[in-house]
Amino acid sequence: MPVITFANTKGGAGKTTAVLLLSTELARRGYRVTILDADPQHWISHWYEISGNHVPNISVIDFVTSASLPVHLSENSATDYFILDLPGARTPLLATALGLSDHVLIPIQGCAMDARGGAQVLELLHYLEQRAGIRINHSVVLTRVNSMVTTRALQVVKALLSERSVAVLETPIIERSAFRDIFDCGGTLYTMDSTRVSNLDKAQENARAFAEEMMRLVPTRLTASARSTGHEAIRSAA
Ligand SMILES: Nc1ncnc2c1ncn2[C@@H]1O[C@H](COP(=O)(O)OP(=O)(O)O)[C@@H](O)[C@H]1O
Ligand SMILES: [Mg+2]
Repeated sequence: MPVITFANTKGGAGKTTAVLLLSTELARRGYRVTILDADPQHWISHWYEISGNHVPNISVIDFVTSASLPVHLSENSATDYFILDLPGARTPLLATALGLSDHVLIPIQGCAMDARGGAQVLELLHYLEQRAGIRINHSVVLTRVNSMVTTRALQVVKALLSERSVAVLETPIIERSAFRDIFDCGGTLYTMDSTRVSNLDKAQENARAFAEEMMRLVPTRLTASARSTGHEAIRSAA
């Protein structure tokens, strides 16, 4: 089953946040998601704990290392998507993880455009292709984008990256307080109180568009029972 890895050797790029958004959206659609938490900050594992360890369709494995990663993948074959959250540093796990991934997503902060951490991942992917002939699909996702930033400004950034043959997701992840608060309150964007979180509807819409784009990029098989759970979840949230 597909492995999607979030990689950027710089902390604060928005990896863990994007992991949570994608995982919860996929789970809502009925996919069984296993999150592999290799981030030394363990934010996902902490979120899972305060969510009562029972967010439907999601399981979380903590303390993932380069030795344990292949074992987790083979031992959880009933999973529809593996989502891997890497540390914000260059560790031996990075190359192992890239090699085992179906798609690598490189979150880069849209506003700051401090792309060095992302560039290191792109260099390593390039190296694997040149030296070992291993081509791993990958894209940049612009994160923490100010909601005031115009589509035109984003197009400029995308054009710059595409000049260097880097694919950029259509959907940027916007800077939203809901995406921060979810780590404090647990649950999902659909269990939060819309009277207390500003622009929750826009946050939900953004997460949905991001997940839909990823599902098109990295399709997986969905069992009939999972499909009906997903439809039900979406109907009840609508
Ligand atoms: N789209 C976003 N909107 C609001 N806050 C964000 C967003 N993305 C990240 N953050 C915040 O920025 C900080 C770093 O994000 P995080 O996802 O932990 O990055 P990384 O995993 O790359 O270190 C966290 O405090 C997180 O809440
Ligand atoms: Mg992180």
